[in-house]
Order: sequence, then C-alpha cells, then structure tokens
Amino acid sequence: TLPRVYITRQIPPEGLKILRESGQVQYELWDSDDVPVPRKELLQKVKGVDGLVCVLTEKIDTELLDAAGPNLKVLSTMSVGFDHLSLEELKKRGIRVGYTPDVLTDSVAELTVALLLTTSRRLIEATHEAKTGGWGTWRTLWLCGHELAGSTVGILGLGRIGVAIAERLAPFKVKKFIYADVAPRPELASVINAEYVSFDELAKQSDFLSVCCALTPETKEICNKDLFSKMKNTSIFINTSRGGVVNQEDLYEALSTGQIAGAGLDVTVPEPLPTSHPLFTLKNCVILPHIASASYATRNNMSALAANNLLLGLRGEPMIKELKL
Ligand code: GLV
Ligand code: GLV
Repeated sequence: TLPRVYITRQIPPEGLKILRESGQVQYELWDSDDVPVPRKELLQKVKGVDGLVCVLTEKIDTELLDAAGPNLKVLSTMSVGFDHLSLEELKKRGIRVGYTPDVLTDSVAELTVALLLTTSRRLIEATHEAKTGGWGTWRTLWLCGHELAGSTVGILGLGRIGVAIAERLAPFKVKKFIYADVAPRPELASVINAEYVSFDELAKQSDFLSVCCALTPETKEICNKDLFSKMKNTSIFINTSRGGVVNQEDLYEALSTGQIAGAGLDVTVPEPLPTSHPLFTLKNCVILPHIASASYATRNNMSALAANNLLLGLRGEPMIKELKL
C-alpha cells in the first residue's frame, strides 16, 4: 500500500498536482486555505501517517509527533522559516525535514523594498490624507520622509534574502551596506560589498535597518529597548523575518516617543495581530499581514518544492531542500 500523507492546508495547485500525478502517495488534506486545521482535528488526522506537509501556522511539537506515531518519517513544510518546528524532537525521532528556501527569495526581497519605501516615504499616511480631506495645499515639509539616496542600510542576519534586498536597494544610491551576524559571511557580503559590524554599530549607523535573520532561541527579541535606544531618531526599522525577533512593547515605545522614525512590519506576535493592538494606532508603523512571499509564482513554487521534498524523502532519497538537523 502507498505511504499515507496528511496535508494541513489546501496548498496551491502546483504541489497537489505533483502529489496526485506521482501515484506514490495517498494523501488527505485540510481542504481550506481560509482557516487553519483545528488542532484537535489535526491531532486525529496525523495518526499513523508516513508523511506530513505543513505550513507555518501548525506547531509541530512533541504532542503532535506523539499523536502521529512511529510511522512518520518525513515532514515537509511549505516555508523557509522553521520556528514552528521542534527541531530537537524531530531529530531525536529520525524524522527528515524539508523546507522551501531560495524559491521565495525574490518575492520576499521585492516586498521588503516595497515595505521599506512605504514606511520611509509615508505612503499609507499620504493616501489617507489625500482621500480624507487632509490635502489642503501643497506644503513644503508636509509628509516628508527619509530617502535611501546617500543612506546606510543595515542588515541583521545576512543570508540569501538579505543579499537579495541589498541588490535591489543598491540602485537607489545607497551609500553603504553594513551587516551584523553571529559570524562574518564574507562570500555573501562580497556580493553586495557589505561591511561586517557589531550589533551595536549596526544600531548606531543604520538609516534603514532590515531584519533578515531566522527566529531561534538566540535571536528571540534581540530587537529590544537596547537596540532601539542606540538607533538614530531618523532611522527606519523593517522586519520581514519573524515577529518573535522583536520585543513589540519596546518597539511601540521607540515609535511613540520618536526614538526611531518608523517601522514596517510584515510579521508580528501574535499573527494575526489583534486589531486593538497599540501598534495599529501609530501613524509611523506600517503593518502587513505576513505577505512577503505572497506572489502567485512564488507560492506555487513553494507548494511544488514542498511536494517534491516530501516525495523524495518518502523514497529515502536526498530532498531538494532539506534542513540539517
Ligand atoms: C514565510 O514566512 C516563510 O517562512 O516561508
Ligand atoms: C514638485 O512637484 C516640484 O515642482 O518641485
């Protein structure tokens, strides 16, 4: 009999087509993209499966792996992030893990640039003023923001995505790229001519600070009071990685007191961020609902890669993109 697989979401058609046409698996899926599978249902559905395809809304932890049982050999997440997975627990059980880096790099970099410009040039405020009667006359300092030309752009966590963002920002006449990380990344840094600096220097020098690191126990809330207090009051903070990297209370404080000029966030804690959250009251904070990889092409590519990783894993072959546990 064919390996049994559960898919926790109605993923984009490319991936489902690959699974269907492979003839290698029998799968069942949570047939909705609008609401996540309820935890109780998930715990029941995973019983005895050989493979699991998930998205970032599902916590893959001890409870879930216990519910799945010893048949589970392959987990394939349709995401580049892996903070929803208990890696230690997966490793202990010998479960292989596929994920979807690279295919989303262009889309995430593109969105990050869009969010950066939206925040720095105050586009949301500006359209709001235009349509609600605030546009009294052309004014000399009204809705002024901060420009990229001549600026220093800082990247926290230099990986594929950070490089792709810098490549797109360079034509805006950025003066200097700097980055902070746990260790220098000379090969990646040379692509964008970026200088390795300490975390402190990153805070002090950046006119635009873009968070591009993974969320791990080491990076949890590293963007806090300490960082914001060292930033210039003209600086813009951008986060398209994970909300957990930021202490949101400290960010609120920094934005509301003018310690920094603005923030653009594609990720928050929790998600969705409640509409009553104080960050939504701030004009200098632009919040997007976690859409950095959301282009049709990229989401289909992620779906296809997740499907192919799963099939390769179930055959005992190397996956296209496999997390080293
Ligand atoms: C999106 O946030 C992802 O991890 O792919
Ligand atoms: C702006 O529109 C200008 O003419 O300076």
